[in-house]
Order: sequence, then structure tokens, then C-alpha cells
Amino acid sequence: MTISPRLATLADVTELTRLENSVFDGDRLSARGFRHFIRSDHSELWCVDGDGGLAAYALLLFHRGTSLARLYSLAVAPAVRGQGRGGQLLHWAEQRALARNILFMRLEVRDDNQAAIGLYEKAGYRRLKRLPEYYQDGSDGWRMEKHLRPASPLPPKLPFYAQTTPFTCGPAALMMAMHSLSPALPMNRLHELALWREATTIYLTTGHGGTSAQGLALAAHGRGIAARMWLSDRRVPFIEGVRSAHKREVIQLVGEDFQQRCDDAGIVTESGHKTLEDYRQALAQGYRILLLISTYRLNRNKAPHWVWLVAMDEQFAYINDPDVDGNLDQADTDNLYVPVSLDNLAGMVRYGSKRYGAALLLGPQLAS
Ligand SMILES: CC(C)(COP(=O)(O)OP(=O)(O)OC[C@H]1O[C@@H](n2cnc3c(N)ncnc32)[C@H](O)[C@@H]1OP(=O)(O)O)[C@@H](O)C(=O)NCCC(=O)NCCS
Repeated sequence: MTISPRLATLADVTELTRLENSVFDGDRLSARGFRHFIRSDHSELWCVDGDGGLAAYALLLFHRGTSLARLYSLAVAPAVRGQGRGGQLLHWAEQRALARNILFMRLEVRDDNQAAIGLYEKAGYRRLKRLPEYYQDGSDGWRMEKHLRPASPLPPKLPFYAQTTPFTCGPAALMMAMHSLSPALPMNRLHELALWREATTIYLTTGHGGTSAQGLALAAHGRGIAARMWLSDRRVPFIEGVRSAHKREVIQLVGEDFQQRCDDAGIVTESGHKTLEDYRQALAQGYRILLLISTYRLNRNKAPHWVWLVAMDEQFAYINDPDVDGNLDQADTDNLYVPVSLDNLAGMVRYGSKRYGAALLLGPQLAS
């Protein structure tokens, strides 16, 4: 028996909901949820027809700008299990992900779901992390992962911290990178906010300002971590959009003061655009690299955002992205060691029309 999956349409929603209700007791997708995923550009919902309705479906979610996919759900109608549909549909989903240049497939499964765990392990998935009380009824789960192509394996004990405010990406990324160099430096909310207060610019628009490369460099320096900066140029960034001359003046003043304090502290600033090869070499030398990226390729939102560039291989860069968008449960699935194609990375590290680029290099002591 060979299955012929097809993409679901809105006409399938009633059947999908029926199948969902016959398969899962809790954490079910609603009709509304199915409609959303059918319409979305960032998901593919594949179904398999059976004699009396749908026999199976698989739902794949893609993480924009990255090479990560999540198998959000997989279900085979009870009457037709054990005949190979689940295995084939899983393989189909992986092929679809590969067609989109996806490198990693991640998923969550209940720890008492022997059939599904058996299926995934047979297909080469490995257990990444236990998820206590992950499901609605309090059951534990497992996060599992498969490398769809040979890739750099996830380093053991890679620190991760999710920013707890919209403006603390810099401190969150800095805490992870510093912690990997010096495990005594804590990753917690107090430290996150303390770092923000040290490193923030006064950005006089709506909301709080983010942290500048100089501010983060000084904060690291003050904690005994060697820091250096790669900046595309020395001007104070993100000032063009500020209309009021008075506000621009304040931002300029703070920006220049930060740079002066870095210079006084002996923090080296190199100006000019760096290449991906420069990043690769710095990683090989043991530097931790924080990158200011534009999130446009990740979420179509043009915001400056700090991430930790953890590793690079021939095809991909791997980032720890502190912005989990309120979704703490999925942080390890979607935000830890996220593969981003090198092309995408090259686009992300030039911010806005002025192509501003900033990287903060820490270390290069190797982790203990
Ligand atoms: C998990 C599920 C999708 C498997 O679908 P299926 O069509 O029965 O699976 P297949 O017949 O293709 O089996 C493929 C492999 O899965 C594993 N497997 C399937 N059923 C199993 C069971 N009851 N116990 C242990 N392993 C099992 C086996 O390794 C099997 O390979 P084998 O037949 O060579 O031993 C199906 O049981 C299901 O829909 N379960 C409920 C929904 C669910 O749990 N989805 C996963 C959520 S994460």
C-alpha cells in the first residue's frame, strides 16, 4: 500500500476535525486551527484519503527565515493503523521539508505514546529533551529531533535564555554567550534587567530603547569578559527615522558617549563590513559572537534584534534567538541552535537602507 498525500483545502476541515477528535483526547486542533494552517504560507497540511473519509494527516510548520521545521501533528485513523501509512506520511513530510531546504525536523510527543515514539525512533529521531507536564492533562512529553541532512550536531549544554521583555534581546543574548564562557555569570531576570540598564541607549521613540553594541561591550568588559566590536561604521545608528532634532541630539550624545567609554576602556572597534568568512574564523578562534540582525527575514518585522551566532558549517549558521514570542514551551524547538542558511544570514546582518552592521565578539576563552 503506497499513500498519495495531497495538500488539504478548506473543504477538508470537517473531515480533519472528525479525524482529530477520533485520534486525540486532548490538545486537539480546532476547525479554526485547521483553517488557519491551510491558509498559512508557513505550514503545509497533507492528508491521505481513505475508503470512508480521511485516513491520515500530517501538519508541518516552517519557521520563517530559518532551516527548521516542526512536525506539529501526525495522525492516522485508528481503523487503518499498523499498515505503513504513518511511516510513509512521516517520510513524505521530511521530503517536503527538504524541498524547502530545511535541515532539522523537530516535534513533541507524549512520553506514553509508544506507537509514535516507536515510529519516530525507527525513522531516526532522537530525544532532545524531556518536557515535564507539557500536555493539557499534565502528561510529560519529549522533544525529538532529526537532522534531515548531515549537519553540525547540537553542542551539549548550550545555554539558552529567553528574553522576558520586548527590549532585552541584547541582554538575553549576552547572558547566554557570557555564561558559555564563564558559567558563574547567571542567566536570570535580575541580571537581564541590570544588563539592559547598563547597555541601553536612550532611544526617544515609543517604548524602551534597545541595547547598543557599545553598551553590551562595556557590560561584558565590566564582568571580566574581553569584548571587541565589528561595526560597519562608527556613526550612531537608527537615528534617521527620528524626526525631532532635539531627540536626535540626545540619542547622538548617548551614542557618542558609549563609543568614547569603549575607546577609553580599550575595547577595540573595527570599522567596515565583515564577511561570513570573518565570522567563521572568529568562531574557530573561540570567540562568542553576538550579531545585530534585522528580523525582516524571520518575521517580516523590520526590527533590530540581537542573537547569538553559535556555530557555522558549510551551509548553515546556527543561532540562539532569545525572542520566543511568548512561547516559552517551544523555546528549545524553535529558538535554540536554529539553522539559518548562509544566504539568509548575509541578508540579516545588514540593517536597513544604510546597511548598518554590528557584531560583538566576546572571549575568545574556550568554555570550561
Ligand atoms: C503514531 C501513528 C501515526 C503511527 O501510524 P501507523 O500508520 O500505525 O504507523 P505505521 O504502520 O506506518 O508504522 C510505522 C512504525 O511505527 C512504529 N509503530 C507503529 N505502531 C506502533 C505501536 N503500536 N507500538 C510501537 N511501535 C509502533 C513501528 O516502528 C512501525 O514500524 P514497523 O511496522 O516496521 O514495526 C498512529 O499510531 C497514530 O495516529 N497515533 C495517534 C496519533 C499520534 O499519536 N500521533 C503522533 C503525535 S506526536
